[in-house]
Formats: sequence, structure tokens, C-alpha cells
Amino acid sequence: MSNVKAALEVIASKAPDFKADVAMVLGSGLGGVVDAVSDPIKIAYEDVPGFPLPTVHGHGGQLVLGRIGGVSVAVMQGRAHFYEHGRSDLMAEPLETLRELGADRLILTNAAGSLVPDAVPGSLMLITDHISMFGPNPLIGYHGDDRFVGMDVPYDPEIGAGLHQTAAQLGIKLFEGTYCWCTGPSFETPAEIKMLKVLGADAVGMSTVPENILARRLGFKVAAVSNITNLAAGMSATPLSHAQTLEMSKEGSANLIRILLQYFSRSA
Ligand code: HPA
Repeated sequence: MSNVKAALEVIASKAPDFKADVAMVLGSGLGGVVDAVSDPIKIAYEDVPGFPLPTVHGHGGQLVLGRIGGVSVAVMQGRAHFYEHGRSDLMAEPLETLRELGADRLILTNAAGSLVPDAVPGSLMLITDHISMFGPNPLIGYHGDDRFVGMDVPYDPEIGAGLHQTAAQLGIKLFEGTYCWCTGPSFETPAEIKMLKVLGADAVGMSTVPENILARRLGFKVAAVSNITNLAAGMSATPLSHAQTLEMSKEGSANLIRILLQYFSRSA
């Protein structure tokens, strides 16, 4: 039984007549984006049927409705990861709920390791393509022809161009590249990173790909940005840990907030 109708009823009771233009999902250490939301209405995930409770430190668990610049936004502060529950479809109902609220654009953010030596911690990388080989496709078990989602253009080039333009105006370097989803929760080994480089990955992380696939089936235009918190395993002497991810997310997060604020104030 879908929880979407019940979720929409809860949202309507707290934010009557709210309609979203854009939905956003915030990754580790990126919760500060919600500070940029004006007149926010905050609803804990535990009050919204179908919204999975994050178990990860650094991931808030609330839906924030309001405005950034000229657009109406529905922001998920925190997401469910495959590694938390062993299911890649846990974001299906939340995304469907956000789509029903009217959002047709989805901005995904994540913390990621970089396979590109120049994209050092603190950098931002626009995801232009992805590699999904290591976890199950979130649409397994769906019926109907709409499960056969075309993935030839997985990330929306128009939003990507807008984010690039905005970053350039602000003097912020925005890398771009291919993101590879590894399930986690352990980080990759140096040998795995060497393999991923050969496969064409520029960044590696534990999220985003399942959401992209689910969202594309729902008709969202999707853009995604990685906040680079570390060079990938074997590329630096710094040991990888979640504490380091959170610590190193601050600089990129501040820049990402600036880009999103400016982008939304132009794209009303
Ligand atoms: N690998 C996977 N996930 C990550 C990393 C990484 O190096 N950094 C932040 N999230």
C-alpha cells in the first residue's frame, strides 16, 4: 500500500496549499542548505508516512518546505541509503510525494570521494553521468512499461548549464564528471578505486544513483552535485572516515549553498 496519499495529507495539514517547483535532497554535511529556506515549514520524517528515518550522523530527518530566491522548494534534509536497510527503493515514496506536490525538478546532493587529483576536498562536482553496477536497481519488482527508464541522458543538461553559469558568476570552480555508486557503508579499497578509474568514474559515493533512477521514472528533471570531501582511497595519506567526511564537507557546502541561492533567484 502506498503511503503517498497519507504523506500528502500530513503535508497539507501543516502547509495548506503548498506547491513545490523544485525538490532537493541533501547529503551528508549539507543540511545547512535549509538555513537558506525562507518562511520554512519543517516536518519531521517520523510524522510523514513513507519517509525513512536516517540512521546516519550528519543527516537530519526532516522535510523543509518554503522558498529559496524565486522558487518554492521542498527539501529533504537527509535521505535513506541502500546500506542502511539493504533496499535501493526506499526513496521511492518520498520522491513520489514531492512530485505530487508539484515539483518537476530535483536537485540531489551528496558527499563523495574524488578520483580526479585536481578536484581536492572542498571542490564541487556536477554529476553528468553515473555508473551503477554494485547495488540492485531500485525499479526491480516494478510492473508496467514505465520501469524501462531511458538512461541515455540521466542528468538534465539545462539545469547543469544553469548551475555552471551560476558557479562561474560567483567565481566558484564547478568540476563535472561521472559518479559511481558503491553500496558502502565501508569505503572502497585502493584496488577498487584503481578499477573505477579504468571504468571512467570521477567521483565515488554511496547514494544518488537509486534516487536518480526512481526520479527519472517519475518524470523529474534531475541534477546532482557532489561535495568532494576526500580524495578516494589510495590517493592520499588521509585515512577515510565519516567524521572526516563531515568535517571536510564544510567548504564545499558553503559554496554549494551560494550557487543554489543564486541559481534559484534567477530561475524563478
Ligand atoms: N567513497 C564513498 N563514499 C564517500 C566517499 C568515498 O571516498 N567520501 C564521501 N562519501
